Amino acid sequence: MSAAPIGVFDSGIGGLSILHSIRQLLPDEDLIYVADSAHAPYGPKGEEFIRQRSLHIMQYLAHRQVKAVVVACNTATAAAIAVLRERYAIPLIGVEPAIKPAAEQSLSGVVGVLATSGTIASDKFLTLQSRFSGQTQILTRAGTGLVELIEQPQIDEAAVLALLESFIKPMQNKGADTLVLGCTHYSLIRSQIAKVAGPDMKIVDAGTAVAKELQRRLLTHGLNSLTPASHPVSFVSSGDLAVQQRLLARYWPESAAVTALV
Ligand code: DGL
Repeated sequence: MSAAPIGVFDSGIGGLSILHSIRQLLPDEDLIYVADSAHAPYGPKGEEFIRQRSLHIMQYLAHRQVKAVVVACNTATAAAIAVLRERYAIPLIGVEPAIKPAAEQSLSGVVGVLATSGTIASDKFLTLQSRFSGQTQILTRAGTGLVELIEQPQIDEAAVLALLESFIKPMQNKGADTLVLGCTHYSLIRSQIAKVAGPDMKIVDAGTAVAKELQRRLLTHGLNSLTPASHPVSFVSSGDLAVQQRLLARYWPESAAVTALV
């Protein structure tokens, strides 16, 4: 058992969707959330850059003596989790597009995956995709531009809906009845996605699965906390703190203060 905090990070605020699932399942854990918003989006940046940023954030979290880290970003998981695991011995949990549950739920046998261009091009994703492509047709689409809109202090609803239409309708026209949200940012606009996708399309993300995997790993290593969390979530960001504060007010239900990532 350990009262040390758990680190959670993303290129920006997208990982709040995962943080929410963790908070629900593990209310006794102290949590530190790092948003690398000064460098979001990671999607088009290239694997080497994402690895360097992930190592930098990991170093910060290690300094804060975390007992485990959740890489709450599909793009960073694909690019960097292997190198993080080589260097750090603590439990490291990543996130990848939830193709398995989507394939199980699909009746048409056609599944759409909306993710960043970085995730879709990664070896990790291609391997995952090939595991299921025998039984399920997997249509991929890069959600280019969405992360930028989600990170805006004032969300442009019309622009979000128009982009979503252009991504989701072509997949539906090809028979997709299930949509995987393969970027943690997209779960923050799930209601807009559901509006565009309509009632007949199932929407799947990995938030709950990641929280359960974290719980399992903490228990296996005897690292779970048995006393209620003593602090609100500690939010840290490389971005403009005033903007981050507004984004938190929109996407996080508890009151919270943001400090700068150094
Ligand atoms: N939230 C991220 C993901 O899950 C990254 C989005 C981005 O920065 O491009 O992939």
